Amino acid sequence: MHAEFWQARWSRSEIGFHLSEVNPYLQRYWPALELAQGAQVLVPLCGKSVDMAWLAGQGYQVIGIELAQRAVEDFFAEHGLEPQISQDGVFQVYRAGAVTIYCGDLFALEPRHVAQCSALYDRAALIALPEAMRERYVARLAELLPGSIQALLVALDYDQGQMDGPPFAVNEAQVQRLLARHWQIELLEECDVLGQNWRFLQRGLSRLDERVYRLQRQ
Ligand SMILES: C[S@@+](CC[C@H](N)C(=O)[O-])C[C@H]1O[C@@H](n2cnc3c(N)ncnc32)[C@H](O)[C@@H]1O
Repeated sequence: MHAEFWQARWSRSEIGFHLSEVNPYLQRYWPALELAQGAQVLVPLCGKSVDMAWLAGQGYQVIGIELAQRAVEDFFAEHGLEPQISQDGVFQVYRAGAVTIYCGDLFALEPRHVAQCSALYDRAALIALPEAMRERYVARLAELLPGSIQALLVALDYDQGQMDGPPFAVNEAQVQRLLARHWQIELLEECDVLGQNWRFLQRGLSRLDERVYRLQRQ
């Protein structure tokens, strides 16, 4: 999945992954992380997720990373915010209130960008990437992130033979294989979501499970 793929998706507004409501798992499970007020939260591959506005509203500092300028501009416009824009190396940095979005490639991030982060929120980021890139993503996060960080991960699982990704299927065994080296993993919830996702039903899926994990860096 190269940058051009995502840029084209955004320019054609093919963003079926975008949710207009705050993610219910985030609302349900985030308080259990017991982060300090003002803690920094990293949202990799953030799109224009309204979850960032929710996190900011809860008193956190949000650091989003997103390739597509269109997504970043839409986020601020749709929340009535006028960002200050600056350049930091290869990133264009958009800042308004408690939300900062680095517009550019996650793989170009440096430790200094995320050194203060206490938590990470991954919804539709890991599963947006094909297998080889998922390995790189997990390895890069492990290099970048500070030792004490916690995370909430929302992943989808289905029969990969029935549909091409993205989103890609990432089952429990794959989560363990990818993450267990660097994180303690706790499965918080598992939900059959096929009935609520007609676009995946139409694409021929017979099963679609969503799983929510809490991760603690070890
Ligand atoms: C499936 S979407 C999910 C967006 C968001 N997490 C949400 O829940 O709505 C994946 C996003 O990752 C962005 N993306 C893909 N590869 C990226 C990369 N290497 N660096 C930064 N953003 C990337 C895409 O442009 C797209 O907006």
